[in-house]
This record gives sequence, structure tokens and C-alpha cells, in this order.
Amino acid sequence: MKPREIKRGVYWVGAIDWDRRLFDALIPLPDGTSYNAYLIKGNKKTALIDTVDPTMKDVLINHLNELKVKSIDYVVANHAEQDHSGTIPQVLEKYPEARLVVTPKCKDMLIDLLLVPEEKFKTVADRETISLGDRTLEFIHAPWVHWPETMLTYLREDRILFPCDFFGSHLATTDLYVTDEGQVYEAAKRYYAEIMMPFRTTIQKNLEKIRGYEISLIAPSHGPMYDKPEFIIKAYNSWVSDPPKNIVVIPYISMHGSTRQMVAYFVEALAQKGVTVQQFDLSVTDIGKLAMALVDAATVVIGAPTVLAGPHPNAAYAAFLANALRPKVRFVSIIGSYGWGGKTVEQLAAMIPNLKVEVLEPVLCQGLPREADFKALDRLADTIAQKHKEQDFA
Ligand code: FEO
Repeated sequence: MKPREIKRGVYWVGAIDWDRRLFDALIPLPDGTSYNAYLIKGNKKTALIDTVDPTMKDVLINHLNELKVKSIDYVVANHAEQDHSGTIPQVLEKYPEARLVVTPKCKDMLIDLLLVPEEKFKTVADRETISLGDRTLEFIHAPWVHWPETMLTYLREDRILFPCDFFGSHLATTDLYVTDEGQVYEAAKRYYAEIMMPFRTTIQKNLEKIRGYEISLIAPSHGPMYDKPEFIIKAYNSWVSDPPKNIVVIPYISMHGSTRQMVAYFVEALAQKGVTVQQFDLSVTDIGKLAMALVDAATVVIGAPTVLAGPHPNAAYAAFLANALRPKVRFVSIIGSYGWGGKTVEQLAAMIPNLKVEVLEPVLCQGLPREADFKALDRLADTIAQKHKEQDFA
């Protein structure tokens, strides 16, 4: 796409990555992504807000050429991660006069990650401003969305917030603004689950911090811009807030069908008691979908067969992932089948120290489940439904 003017003198100069399918060699990108950068021309000075992934450096440089940008005074790096900072070296080479505007922490990180020379930096304090003449940039320190150095940039006169990853969505689209709210809600929720959820309590504070700002447009570094900012702010408030919902998430895997039988029976038992269930076969599931389900779930039940005296590695991966993402889940249990013994429950329970949960009585059976095992699954379903009801999870 060509550069696009958002407001007089404010341009989108980013890159759309339609074909990228994996981020951080970990996160699936079913809908691609974008790396949004923005150029702001004041009547005295010019600023570039973030850059693009290094694989797309030519796209950004071509945009700047097309806009006939002769000089840049400030390159603002809201975040040090390479999908936004990775083209800083090329921009500084083309515009050697530019100062790199960052938080003190971001300076240290960019020296490490990109070997940017120390003299290029201008560090800014929380709420510090820089004048572009008729326009003012205010920098709002907002650590842990989602690295320790992150900040947001607010263009006062136009009331535009540039929050980098915060509020973003991995979505490649030609639409500059949100047009399909359902599609963007899902992409933004997936993004929150994968990237932001571990920092839920810090995000609550950052949401509080921006409450005092009048915002007419949120221009994130991934996905379309929000010309109705309340749409994404309301969504974030819901995702970060307590309590969870009346939902059980069941990541499971089955080797010879025994654990699958248990999961099928258990899902039906929960559904009969009015509990919403989302099950994920870990041999094929998109982990982004699983992460998204964890945003609202009150309970996680891992379905794990025993392999070599411990949990199936895919079940261990799900436990490790849930522990890392720190969802607001309150209860955890384990169901599954074993051949001759093992320590599946002990090993899985030891993998989730970050989750402040009550571990409910697990149900493990030898070989295929029998009547006593189905009764135990009924009891576990009863316990979960009861606990959700007692705590008013709706
Ligand atoms: Fe989009 Fe944390 O980088």
C-alpha cells in the first residue's frame, strides 16, 4: 500500500505482511499482520513514530521517499521489539540528523538489540513533551505492554494515541480503520491473550493512566486504527477485569482413545449442568485459539494420557503455556488414562505455579474408562458447576 494521510500532515507509512504465518517462531498468524509506522509533520519539525519489521525496511523507506521527506528530527521508538524497531538503523542512516526518542530502559535495550550508537538517543521522562511547532508529542510511560521499556505517544492537538503493541491486532487488511468490528474483536482478543494477558494487572493500571486523555483515534502498531476508541478500550476493560466466566477449557490429547472417551463424556456432563465448554485437541489445535479461550475461562481441565510415567508432552506444553500466560482462571483439574502407573498429576500440577488456583480432585483411569470412572467425572462436573455457581460466574 502507498502512504496514506490520516489527518492533515499525519500519515500512515507502515507495511502490511499478508503472508507471515508465525511470530516470535511461536505465535500463529492466521490473518497475517501489519507493522504500522506514522509520520507527523509539524510546521517546524517532523517525527516518525516507530518503524517496521526489518524484512519490510524497503517499504518504509519507499514511503518516506514518496512523501519527499527531506529530514526527520525525531524517530520515536515506543517499543524496542524488532518488528517496530528493526528498521531504525536504516532510517538513521538515511536521516543522520534524527534523534531517537525513547524511555531510558528502551535506550539500553536498543543499544543491545540493534547496536545503535549512544549519541543518537534522546531519553524522555513520563509525560515529557516535544514540540513539532504547531503540534505536540507527549510521551506516556507504560511499562509492560508488553516489555519493560514500553511507552505510548499522544499527539495532543489531534488527540491521537500511538500505543504501539497495546490495543493491536495481528490482521493484514487494506482497511485503515476498523470496518468489521467482529473480525477485529477476535483478532485483538487473540493478540491480547498471546501477548498482553501475562501483564493483566499492569494493563489495568495503564488503562487507568490513559483515562484522563481525550482520545479521538487510537493508532496501534499492528492492525487497523480505532476511530471509535471506546470499542477497544471497553474490550480491554472486560478482558483484564475479574471475575472469569462460567466457562471450562479442556486442552487434551489422546493416544488410543481412552482419554478422548473421558473428555467426550465430561464435556457432555458439564454442558448438561449449564457450563460452557471449549475443548481443544492438542494434536492439531491452533494455540492462539486456546490462548483466546483462556482469557475468560474460570476452570481449565487438562486431558492427558500418561507417557513414560509422565504427562503426554503436548499436555505438558498446554500446562506450560497456561502458566506463562497467567489467565484469571480459578480452578484446575486433570483427567486422563494411563497404562500401568506414573506421576502425570504431580508433574502437571507442578508446572502451573503462576496460577493462583484451587486444584480439584483429578480423575485418572487405567486403560478404558469404566462405570466408576464415569461417576468420578460426573462428580468433578458437579463440583465445577457448583463452584462456578457459588461465585456467580455468569
Ligand atoms: Fe509488535 Fe512487541 O512487538
